[in-house]
Amino acid sequence: MKRKTGSSFAWGLLLMAACCLWPLQCPAIDNSECFDCHGDTGLTKESTDNILNTEITESLYVDEDRFDRSVHNLNGITCVDCHSDIEELNYDNEVPHKKNLKKVCCASCHEQAGEDFKNSVHMKLRTKGITMTCYACHGYHYVRQMEGASVTERENSICLKCHNPYQFHAWLPSRSSHFANVECVVCHAPDVPRHINLKIYDLVSNTFYDSNRLFNILGVDFDQLMKTVDKDGNGIIDPDEFETLVLVLKQKNIHPVFHAELVADISSIAHHVNRGTAQKTCRKCHLANSPYFKTVEVVFNRDDGTVDSYRVDRGVLETYYVNHFYLLGGTRMKLMDRIGLLILAGGACAVGLHLTARILTIPLRRKNEEESS
Ligand code: HEC
Ligand code: HEC
Ligand code: HEC
Ligand code: HEC
Ligand code: HEC
Ligand code: HEC
Ligand code: HEC
Repeated sequence: MKRKTGSSFAWGLLLMAACCLWPLQCPAIDNSECFDCHGDTGLTKESTDNILNTEITESLYVDEDRFDRSVHNLNGITCVDCHSDIEELNYDNEVPHKKNLKKVCCASCHEQAGEDFKNSVHMKLRTKGITMTCYACHGYHYVRQMEGASVTERENSICLKCHNPYQFHAWLPSRSSHFANVECVVCHAPDVPRHINLKIYDLVSNTFYDSNRLFNILGVDFDQLMKTVDKDGNGIIDPDEFETLVLVLKQKNIHPVFHAELVADISSIAHHVNRGTAQKTCRKCHLANSPYFKTVEVVFNRDDGTVDSYRVDRGVLETYYVNHFYLLGGTRMKLMDRIGLLILAGGACAVGLHLTARILTIPLRRKNEEESS
């Protein structure tokens, strides 16, 4: 490790002493050294590394705040873990490291993702001379943890960068509702494990409650809350226990509306996107006991993109508090079966469907409203 000045040399010694005590925790070069230069918004380089071989100015700025919130930083991955051909910084030179660094290989750490990506239409583009990098989808310095992200956030940050789903899917009724509530890869990588995320929505501020705010108001932490709610301690909140949760929240003046979304697990199988293999069968989803709604979790987002989550019984989807998800619970599934029959009878008469669904569910929604008042 080479250091700039005497005093930082002393620090270096201290650091090395610390390293010997705790060898695994010690980064070879601290991020702050890189930020000394790359934290400067004005740092650029002239480059001719492009298909036209013309000179372009490339920014070399890395936003420290955004990097700090990335999944990599939160998991202790440093600059030189990725830019691994920088082994030391030599301040005798104008540029303290090689000017041309190797391309970072994401799959060197994410082997399984690399394997699974091979089986995808996006990898196969290579036969057409288009190389899609991992970071064409994920970005690199600011990869956020996706677990707590909404369907819209996931799609905006990945698929919608390149595709306009309204160009396709003419056969799918209520397209905007599907795109807002079903993540693209749930259909397009049909073997990816998935689950329903239930999040508390605040109708006043039009935002989801994040963990910090919620637990501040409640004056308990996540584990304490769930211990109170999950009375039988079986690790799953059943519909009765769900009522308790709602009650606890109401006592603190939070009137919870739970928003439900069908998302993929954070799994490398999500890369299995191929032509002609997507889920098209309505009844795979819109059927009582559909495997798509087997796993349901209530999640509270933390600031950094991680989540506190707890399993809940799928029966909860039928309760009044789960806003707008009225088509998916058991009894509601029967309604959907009727709609399914209509589809069979009338072909996919898409225009009428939405209306039909709404009309069919009016009595149900009324009943729910009565029950809750
Ligand atoms: C003293 C300032 C300084 C420090 C410290 C520094 N860099 Fe650089 N870095 C530069 C400059 C200047 C360039 C542009 C080089 C050129 O003109 O080709 C550069 C270029 C780069 C590039 C682009 C290379 C390429 O092939 O295009 C990467 C990546 C990079 N630095 C990473 C890092 C990392 C990681 C660290 C910390 C371990 C670091 N730098 C520390 C000044 C610095
Ligand atoms: C998760 C891996 C990863 C980490 C961590 C990472 N980088 Fe990078 N960095 C990349 C990739 C990928 C590129 C795109 C070019 C390439 O393939 O090398 C890149 C490009 C750069 C560039 C060129 C300009 C640009 O934005 O394209 C600079 C400068 C740079 N990184 C600096 C840093 C610094 C400083 C840190 C630490 C704060 C850092 N990197 C951490 C993966 C990473
Ligand atoms: C030095 C090892 C390393 C490299 C190189 C690396 N990553 Fe990671 N990455 C990690 C670790 C550690 C985690 C957090 C634990 C996990 O999810 O596996 C992570 C997590 C992720 C996640 C999961 C986010 C989520 O939702 O949980 C994605 C996506 C990701 N990295 C993409 C990339 C991309 C794209 C690149 C290349 C630009 C890259 N990684 C390079 C180590 C690395
Ligand atoms: C076509 C877009 C796309 C490309 C290209 C892509 N990914 Fe992903 N990746 C995804 C999606 C979608 C998910 C699932 C996360 C979600 O549901 O939001 C994911 C999940 C991940 C995860 C988290 C799951 C896990 O395996 O831990 C990692 C890590 C990851 N990708 C790494 C990579 C790497 C490495 C490459 C390149 C070999 C790559 N990705 C290429 C779209 C892409
Ligand atoms: C960086 C741009 C990019 C991103 C991001 C991206 N794709 Fe693609 N995708 C392409 C390109 C280019 C093709 C090839 C189109 C062709 O061959 O006509 C393609 C092809 C496809 C195909 C095959 C159908 C076709 O038109 O050939 C599907 C399905 C698909 N993508 C779905 C997705 C999904 C789902 C995501 C998000 C996980 C995603 N894509 C993210 C660029 C992208
Ligand atoms: C309800 C399931 C479902 C959802 C949700 C969905 N798709 Fe599709 N999509 C399909 C089916 C089925 C096809 C027909 C082609 C096929 O079988 O792959 C298709 C076709 C496509 C195609 C053209 C493929 C071709 O072969 O021409 C693209 C691109 C695409 N979808 C992208 C997306 C993106 C991006 C999203 C998210 C915004 C999305 N889809 C959401 C099921 C879905
Ligand atoms: C991958 C699972 C999946 C597939 C496949 C699927 N849907 Fe859906 N559908 C959903 C989800 C989730 C919702 C959102 C329910 C909500 O929030 O009200 C939904 C909503 C709907 C709605 C109500 C929209 C609204 O605005 O209230 C209708 C109607 C519908 N789907 C019909 C269909 C038909 C017809 C097909 C087949 C062509 C189909 N769906 C395929 C999961 C799916």
